[in-house]
Amino acid sequence: MNSPTLKIHLPTVRRQRNAPSVNGFDRENGVPGSLGDGGLTRILLSDSLSLESGFTTILRSPVGERPLREEITMSISRSVVWGDLLGMRKIETVEQMPDEYKTTLLKIIYALASTEFASVEQHQPWINQGPTPEDRYIQAQIAADEAHQGFVDCRLLRSFGPEGEEKAATLLKLRMGEHPLAAFNVPFESWVDVCGFCFLLDLVAWHHLRGMENCSYAPLAREMATMVHEEKFHASFGARRIRDIVRNPAYAQLCGATKEDAQRTVDKWYPQALDTFGASESKFSELAVAYGIRRWGNEALRQMFRQDIDAQIEAIGLKVPDPEKGRRIH
Ligand SMILES: [Fe+2]
Ligand SMILES: [Fe+2]
Repeated sequence: MNSPTLKIHLPTVRRQRNAPSVNGFDRENGVPGSLGDGGLTRILLSDSLSLESGFTTILRSPVGERPLREEITMSISRSVVWGDLLGMRKIETVEQMPDEYKTTLLKIIYALASTEFASVEQHQPWINQGPTPEDRYIQAQIAADEAHQGFVDCRLLRSFGPEGEEKAATLLKLRMGEHPLAAFNVPFESWVDVCGFCFLLDLVAWHHLRGMENCSYAPLAREMATMVHEEKFHASFGARRIRDIVRNPAYAQLCGATKEDAQRTVDKWYPQALDTFGASESKFSELAVAYGIRRWGNEALRQMFRQDIDAQIEAIGLKVPDPEKGRRIH
C-alpha cells in the first residue's frame, strides 16, 4: 500500500497571446536579441509553493513546437512508487540504505555532480561573449544554475560520509579532459557551439533528471523539483537559438553563423548526447530502476531522448544525424 501522496498544486499561469513582455523579455518574434515568439519565460514565484525550496519554476514552451504547460503539478510521495521497494517509506538517510542501494545511488549522484562543474568549465570562455545582452544574461544564468546544481550534488555526496566527501573533493579538482563523461571534456568552439550544446546536452540532462523525479531517495527527489525545470530552461534556450541561426537572418548575422554551422554543431553533439545515457546492457542501470532511483533504464531513456531531439531537429529544418555515427558506447 502506498502512503498518501503529498501534492503541491501551483497556480495556473494563463498565457496571454500578444502579451508585450514578461520579466522584461520581449515576446515578439523575429527581433534579434529578444526571446521572440519561441521565448521561454522563467517565473520565480516567491510564495513558497514548493515543498522545500520556497520557489518554483514555471516554463512556457515555444509556440507551435511543444505543448504549452500552463500548470505543473509536482508530487513528491512519502512512499516509493516504482521498483522492488514499491510502497515502502522513502529513504531519508544514508544509514537506512542497504549496501547495494548505497553504491548505486552514490554512483548516480557522482556522475550527475561531475557534469555540473564540468559544464561550467565549458561555458566559462564564452561568458560575456554572446551576441546579444539576453544571450549573455541567459548563458550566465545557465552557468550559475549548473554551479548551484554542483553545490547541491556535493552536499548530497558529503552526506554519504568519508567516501562521499572524497568524491566531492575530487570533483573540484577535475579539469577538462579528466571528467568522467566524455561529452563534458569537449570544449565549445564558437557561440553556435554553446547553443548546440544547450540544445542537445541540456535536453539529455532533462531526460536524466526527469527519470529521477519522485525517486526513492527523498533528499534527491526534493532537489529534482527545481533541477528538472532548470534543465528544460537551458535546453529550450539552445533549441531557440539554433532555430534562430537557421531561420532568422538577422540573428545569424549577429552570430556570424550559417545553417551549415548549426548543422555542424548538431552533428558534433548528437553522438556525444546518445553516448551519455550509457550502455544498453547495464547491471547498474537495472539496479537503479529496481531500487526506485531511476524510473527508466539507459536504453529506454536514450530512445525517449531520440524521439524528442529528432523531432526538434527536423522542425528547425536540419538533418537528423545517423544515430550510429561517432558512437562509442552502445
Ligand atoms: Fe545540470
Ligand atoms: Fe543544464
